[in-house]
Amino acid sequence: MIHSDFPKEFWWGAATSAYQIEGAWDADGKGESIWDRFCHLPGKVLNGDTGQISCDHYHHWQADIALMKSLNLQAYRFSIAWPRILPAGRGNVNSTGLDFYSRLVDGLLDAGIQPFVTLYHWDLPQALQDEGGWAERSTAEAFAEYTDVVTRHLGDRVKYWMTHNEPWVAAFMGYQMGVHAPGLQDWNAAIRAAHHLLLSHGWAVPIIHANSPGAEAGIVLNYSPGEPASPSGADYQAVRRHDGYQHRWFLDPLFGRHYPADMVAEFQSMGVMPTDMIHSGDMESIAAHSDFLGVNYYTRTILRASIPESENLPRTNFYAPKDEWAAGGWGDIYPVGLYNMLCRLHFDYQVPKLYVVENGVSTDGGEPVEKQIRDTCRISYLERHLEQAQRAIQAGIPLAGFFAWSLMDNFEWAMGYSLHFGMVGVDYATGKRIPKDSAFWYRDGIAAWIHAHAVSGIA
Ligand code: FCB
Repeated sequence: MIHSDFPKEFWWGAATSAYQIEGAWDADGKGESIWDRFCHLPGKVLNGDTGQISCDHYHHWQADIALMKSLNLQAYRFSIAWPRILPAGRGNVNSTGLDFYSRLVDGLLDAGIQPFVTLYHWDLPQALQDEGGWAERSTAEAFAEYTDVVTRHLGDRVKYWMTHNEPWVAAFMGYQMGVHAPGLQDWNAAIRAAHHLLLSHGWAVPIIHANSPGAEAGIVLNYSPGEPASPSGADYQAVRRHDGYQHRWFLDPLFGRHYPADMVAEFQSMGVMPTDMIHSGDMESIAAHSDFLGVNYYTRTILRASIPESENLPRTNFYAPKDEWAAGGWGDIYPVGLYNMLCRLHFDYQVPKLYVVENGVSTDGGEPVEKQIRDTCRISYLERHLEQAQRAIQAGIPLAGFFAWSLMDNFEWAMGYSLHFGMVGVDYATGKRIPKDSAFWYRDGIAAWIHAHAVSGIA
């Protein structure tokens, strides 16, 4: 099995996020989040779905840990819902919310599973959105307060912290395209939001290090390599713009290179570049030393300059055979892109340590949930991406872990429950979890890796 080709020092995990699995949207003093609000805006989420109940992980967390243990997971990436901890975003701490995550962390550690915690996976307290959300600098200040509260409480036990998940998605899909919460269409606000997300990451890293001695802290970026649809100069230019917009706008400042000049010029020519957002010291804060970079990889993006911007996202033309597409517009299956990405991040940006914290494929939810779920496409997808991850390690890339997205089927943002990314199926009517064939394949792969390296612990 491919897993046993990986080194002994490696984290095998699966990932989820709070709003996508927890449900219990108003339980035990939790405040409203922007996704609680957004889901009720007409036409924003497919079929009017919401995360109000979802997998109800909030009430099934013990069984879910037992499930993870049965699958030999060595690590579990989950996120903390900010509005459970600080219902108004800042100020009053809801200790019941903290207790939930404290029990979850203890339960994971008891099961021999390493917690990897994301502090922000898109569920901003609505109270902060009412003041402008990430477009305002005060939200970055509130994030520092939230980070302090959480890491003081869990920092003795959690040793892997991620500040933000995919700030490009949070800023641009939330504030410019309007397809994610808070649903705005304002370039200027989106660029400001991106800056404040990055700034709050920079402020949070030293807080994490102070409260959680010996812990690793990093951020998680989405990455979809661009490729030109034709050899025309214009299509190459579109690829460069895509890379600047989705990748370099975040990578460059994080690695001390300031915002990329070509994109600043483009935003200025569009008349949307904010003039007052960068305060003295901000760029130094953003470039704070992180211990690792987390990356989420799903697919590539093929760019054709002739398609207008408004119709152009994700600007993917499917060249792969149809059975090589992921469901729901998630692009074609392109495993070598993972290898190329890891090499670029390490060699171009000197990233000291990398984790793939999301990789996986959606099916369209056609599978029955009662019996065996034969998701051979997911096994093949993961296997082919793991081959590329392993090649990268052989090339000297410091890749230290892999997390499949997702542990279980869940609320897939604007696509609601129409897409299934899980290795475990969920019968939403009963809450029942049904491991798919991919879950058993992953379990057996990890067992083979444990055997090959005589790793002590689980299995
Ligand atoms: C990523 C998100 C994650 C999930 C997957 C499919 O962009 O981080 O929450 O929705 O896509």
